[in-house]
Amino acid sequence: MRNMSDDHTHVQEFFTARAADWDSRFPDDGPAFAAAVAVLGLRQGDRVLDAGCGTGRALPPLRAAVGPSGVVLGADLTPAMLEAAVRAGRGAHGQLLLADVAALPLRPESLDAVFASGLIAHLPDPAENLRELARVVRRGGMLALFHPIGRAALAARQGRQITPGDLRAEPNLRSLLAGSGWRMTSYVDEDDRFLALAVRDS
Ligand SMILES: C[S@@+](CC[C@H](N)C(=O)[O-])C[C@H]1O[C@@H](n2cnc3c(N)ncnc32)[C@H](O)[C@@H]1O
Repeated sequence: MRNMSDDHTHVQEFFTARAADWDSRFPDDGPAFAAAVAVLGLRQGDRVLDAGCGTGRALPPLRAAVGPSGVVLGADLTPAMLEAAVRAGRGAHGQLLLADVAALPLRPESLDAVFASGLIAHLPDPAENLRELARVVRRGGMLALFHPIGRAALAARQGRQITPGDLRAEPNLRSLLAGSGWRMTSYVDEDDRFLALAVRDS
């Protein structure tokens, strides 16, 4: 029987093996991250979390968006990814937390937005985990679910087909978000970008 800690161990093993060369495998993603952060509409002084931050590739554009008076947090479950983030100097752009997005060490409604790149497919209980992200964001705050590659291109790269039950298919994601405290406001799935935006609902 699988339990939550089996899921965590699997995620940590998977990403520990990939941490050291994560950034060098995807050297051209920077502009896509910057463009995705831009659509969040963050303002100077805002408080934002990069959920499943990995090596912290989103932290520099997030810091640029909220400025020195803002708060940037990066949370990840895999110590090796956070260590790679530190080596890459990303700790200068935000505070890194070893934390599970299922149980964030943050107060309710303490953030203006959450950015999550490549995270959702790795969550053992996406509905529950998206609800936890909603807990820490104020009403009207934003969520960006991003990936610097579209679903079809990613499936092709991994040698698999997209099935209708795919979590990130538009109708599935819309209803998943709606059941977790979020209202999806836009959805883009192109070869070089997946980006779904949602607003924290009442
Ligand atoms: C595909 S990587 C993406 C990393 C980074 N966001 C990027 O786009 O480069 C997914 C990351 O999510 C983290 N992760 C998976 N499940 C998590 C959870 N429950 N809580 C926190 N981080 C998690 C993994 O450790 C990994 O670093």
